[in-house]
Amino acid sequence: MADRIVILGIESSCDETAASVVTNGCAVDSNIIASQADLHEPYGGVVPEIASRAHLEHILPTVSAALQRAGESRSSITAIAVGHRPGLIGSLLVGVTAAKALAWAWNKPIIGIDHIHAHLYAPMLNEPALNGESVYPALGLVVSGGHTDLFVCTSPTNVQRIGHTIDDAIGEAFDKAANILGLGYPGGPVVDRRARRGDDQAHTFPVSRLDADSLNFSFSGLKTSLLYTVRGHPVGRGRDAQYPKDATQLTDAQIDDLCASFERAAVDAVMLKLDRALKQWGSFADAPPRAILVGGGVIANTRLRSAIQSWAQSNTLIAALPHFEFCLDNAAMIAGLAHHRCIAHDFDDLTLSASPVSASPSSSAHSST
Ligand code: KG4
Ligand code: ZN
Repeated sequence: MADRIVILGIESSCDETAASVVTNGCAVDSNIIASQADLHEPYGGVVPEIASRAHLEHILPTVSAALQRAGESRSSITAIAVGHRPGLIGSLLVGVTAAKALAWAWNKPIIGIDHIHAHLYAPMLNEPALNGESVYPALGLVVSGGHTDLFVCTSPTNVQRIGHTIDDAIGEAFDKAANILGLGYPGGPVVDRRARRGDDQAHTFPVSRLDADSLNFSFSGLKTSLLYTVRGHPVGRGRDAQYPKDATQLTDAQIDDLCASFERAAVDAVMLKLDRALKQWGSFADAPPRAILVGGGVIANTRLRSAIQSWAQSNTLIAALPHFEFCLDNAAMIAGLAHHRCIAHDFDDLTLSASPVSASPSSSAHSST
């Protein structure tokens, strides 16, 4: 195989249409993201039909822009990688179909990548010092709008899930918190900004623990606790519930305090499970972990980032956190991880399909597992 491996990555699992060119699994030559946030904002969340339609419009211009920005042409591309699971099926199908059409037309190998495994690879992008030997085995954490998962990672392509959320994902909890507080969508960035100005001790929200040795997460109790604090206890149930108050009665300072206190509880819940995972590490792997690898949109959060950095330092682990542009959904993480499948000649073929669910909990990164 050539010394220079250039992968074109395509990502369309949710509401970002993204394409990227990555050389040798690390150097990001282009990272183009066509966001649909404006289209979904009025609905307070991603509307699947709107997302698929927008992907259709954006996919080819986004791929062209990624090649052009990288200064590459189809002839210099070694392989095409696409995020093919998990995600919204209509969205995934657009990316997978485009990738297969290009692979066929350009006569290139195709590699289907699990989006969650790719988030775990995001810390390696544009960080040549973080090569495999220095970080593996590693404890992995994915904190995104759809997932809150813990992993034991022994290589970029070999990851075993050891914990997951039993209800809401952490990013979803931030988005719902913002909605309850009338702060718009997506909620994570605005809650983060408001929390910086607030008092994190103003309210005591629940930090979910679950069973004493559980590595799973739960964020729905935290969300409900915030809801009742803001709107009071409801009369009636479900859609008919009537609340005595709403967020319009809050001052800016009160909203800042609620954001800070909510964020403290959410971050503490994550840190508690990292402690537990480290204590239980011996039951998952023989060699001790060298690093914590984190990916997903919520690792853009200021408080979570600094909590993980100090936690890693006190446990003598490398804190491998992605650069800001690789936290949220992007195609560079897809292309970067695909490099490792490419050097192992581990390709898919044109029967590659999209799937709304991830690989089995204990799996390697290959699509057929
Ligand atoms: O990884 P991602 O782009 O999409 C999924 O794969 O789900 O993550 C999006 C999530 C959203 O829920 C968004 O509110 C959250 O990441 N997010 C944040 C921050 N920036 C984005 N949450 C907390 N603090 C932030 N600064
Ligand atoms: Zn994601």
